[in-house]
Amino acid sequence: MKALITSGGKGTRLRPITHTSNKHLIPIANKPMIHYAIEAVAGAGIKDIGIVYNPDTGNEIRNALGSGSHWDVRFAYILQESPMGLAHVVKVSQDFIGGDSFVFYLGDNVVVGGIKRFIEDFLRDGSNCHLVLSKVHDPERFGVAEIRDGKIIGVEEKPKKPRSQYAVTGIYLYDSSIFEAVNNIKPSPRGELEISDAHHYLIRKGYRVGYSEITGWWKDTGKPEDLLEANRLTLDRIIGDHEPVINGSVDDASDIAGKVIIGKGAKIIRSSIRGPVIIGENTIIENSYIGPFTSIDYDCHIKNSEVEYSIILEKCKIIDADIRIERSLLGREAEIVKCHSRPKTQKFIIGDQSIVELV
Ligand code: G1P
Repeated sequence: MKALITSGGKGTRLRPITHTSNKHLIPIANKPMIHYAIEAVAGAGIKDIGIVYNPDTGNEIRNALGSGSHWDVRFAYILQESPMGLAHVVKVSQDFIGGDSFVFYLGDNVVVGGIKRFIEDFLRDGSNCHLVLSKVHDPERFGVAEIRDGKIIGVEEKPKKPRSQYAVTGIYLYDSSIFEAVNNIKPSPRGELEISDAHHYLIRKGYRVGYSEITGWWKDTGKPEDLLEANRLTLDRIIGDHEPVINGSVDDASDIAGKVIIGKGAKIIRSSIRGPVIIGENTIIENSYIGPFTSIDYDCHIKNSEVEYSIILEKCKIIDADIRIERSLLGREAEIVKCHSRPKTQKFIIGDQSIVELV
């Protein structure tokens, strides 16, 4: 069995972060989100993984992921010339997959508990295609499965009137009949080869399409609020069962409560940290409060400020901020600092498509 993991796409809903960085490298609990997909696939014992990339961010992905040896797997990098849909991703990967069965995993999906169970269900059922479903409140954002008598009888992409609450997640298992589907469907009105159309094709042609349901949590990290939620759930899970891990220094005037990981060289000075929180290497937190579900990456400086339920990427500065920063996502080297000179005005240098909400 092989695997395909996507690492391309435009990430439009995560701008401006995605103007300068590939979405799949945005960290969740201080680890690039695509690592979770790789770990899930490697954890299921799969050794040959195709990483599908687009030309604009290919080098960044290669440099970040390397050969796969870090996970004891082999990566093949597969170019998709332009983002023409997920079924097109499968199409351009046909040579790599050959006659094998494979897992197709969208690199921006984060799921708890790995994928072994889904592979077992797929192999046990002997299906041609196996979808992993999750019950959601907003199915119109996803591919939606119509189920009758325990069988999938249709799949529709982002329907206005969903026929069920079951979203098709970004974890799919296929045998080689999927290639017949992706080579026969036509582009959708948005000009893409839709994976849901490929699934619908298989159902229409009488192929066996089975499913498993995710009972834990699953997140498609398309929007900033999904990313924050994935960060919360991941922090809760990965450090939820641990005692604080303090590799940096914490002075006597600071207090650390709950589950906290503090990286090497980090300094906590006269501050209060309430976990779950992860703080990266060499970050300095001074006279500040860091509240639950916050990830702060390496080389940041937070002074005289309060931050909660946020993701702060590396080398950010938050200094003397008078307001509590919450539900926020700060890109690399972003700064929120108090103006100490006259005139005392609000000053913004904001990248394209940034969002600032004032109180
Ligand atoms: C894609 C698929 C959709 C699926 C979703 C899961 O949507 O087209 O069927 O439900 O991934 O993450 P996208 O995120 O590309 O809009």
